[in-house]
Amino acid sequence: MGTVILGTGSSLPKRIMTNKDLEGIVDTDDAWIYSRTGIKNRRIGGAGEQTHQLAAAASREALQMAGLSAEELDIIVVGTISSHMLMPSCACFVQKELGAVNAFAYDINAACSGFIYGMDMADKYIRSEHRKKILVIGAETLSSRLNWDDRNTCILFGDGAGAAVLGHSDDNGRGVIGSNHRSDGSLWKLLHMHAPPSYNPDLEVPDNSGSYIVMEGREVFKYAVKAMEDSVRGLLQQENISMDSIKLFIPHQANMRILTNLLDRLGFPEEKVFFNVSEYGNTSAASVPIALDEANRQGLFTEGDIILLCAFGGGFTWGASLIKW
Ligand code: ACO
Repeated sequence: MGTVILGTGSSLPKRIMTNKDLEGIVDTDDAWIYSRTGIKNRRIGGAGEQTHQLAAAASREALQMAGLSAEELDIIVVGTISSHMLMPSCACFVQKELGAVNAFAYDINAACSGFIYGMDMADKYIRSEHRKKILVIGAETLSSRLNWDDRNTCILFGDGAGAAVLGHSDDNGRGVIGSNHRSDGSLWKLLHMHAPPSYNPDLEVPDNSGSYIVMEGREVFKYAVKAMEDSVRGLLQQENISMDSIKLFIPHQANMRILTNLLDRLGFPEEKVFFNVSEYGNTSAASVPIALDEANRQGLFTEGDIILLCAFGGGFTWGASLIKW
């Protein structure tokens, strides 16, 4: 028995913001952004494109591919740090949008690692309770959580959602092979976002600059490359799988320089890596499932192929997962 992905989907806001558009917002230019990050465009949510609405649209595609109705879902898990409300969860809003009346729903706050953490939990549920059908989503509208005066951060991120429906397969050889996830809360300051101001003055955070992303870019860069390298190497060793046997590597689309550094350190061939960061920027938890869906729909892998996923984000959180499709 294995946990397989029965369907994938993705959804992106209609509005495209180019690097040129950003030149009118902060002191930056297209050449700087592209050379430092590989990003050309990102999508920015508008009316009707809240996090849960993008998530629901991606989920409908995934359900359609899986041939399942929303009523057949047992659990909905959303990786997000940018839902439009703190409570209820984004997952509860997705449940409402889909009419998934038989599911229980909750969010995972693990920044860019939210989707792969969610997939890992879904795998464990499915292995212990075989018939479960679980919708795992990564969805963000980080445009609502950026300081648009801070050129260090606002150029990097974009909005979007990706989803996967997971279920069981009786074919023993197929499914999630394993994962290797880690966190390090001691490094939280390097990449964080405060909660809204507290109504209890005793519980106010002294340096609460606002509810937007704050980042030490250079430090994040170093940790991201090293952590993703370690988790990929650790996972391959743990599962006794060689790098050569991977058909496609779908890393978190953070930025192109992080990815090329990672590939160099791993000695992994670029031709076997999926990239879409130039078009969407860093969509945090949505980045891996959007890329997975696009690669799936482009037919870049088929049954029996081994896919490697990995991510790194605020927390810090990071990890890698292997799937035999
Ligand atoms: N446009 C023009 N100039 C800029 C911009 C901008 N948007 N942003 C910064 N600069 C300037 C800086 O002010 C600095 O100028 P100075 O030398 O006069 O002080 C100069 O460019 C160099 O700044 P650095 O921050 O040192 O630039 P760096 O080469 O490190 O690139 C970047 C910055 C792209 C943020 C890089 O550090 C990075 O990729 N970090 C990883 C961050 C990341 O991807 N975070 C996402 C969340 S975590 C994750 O998903 C993995």
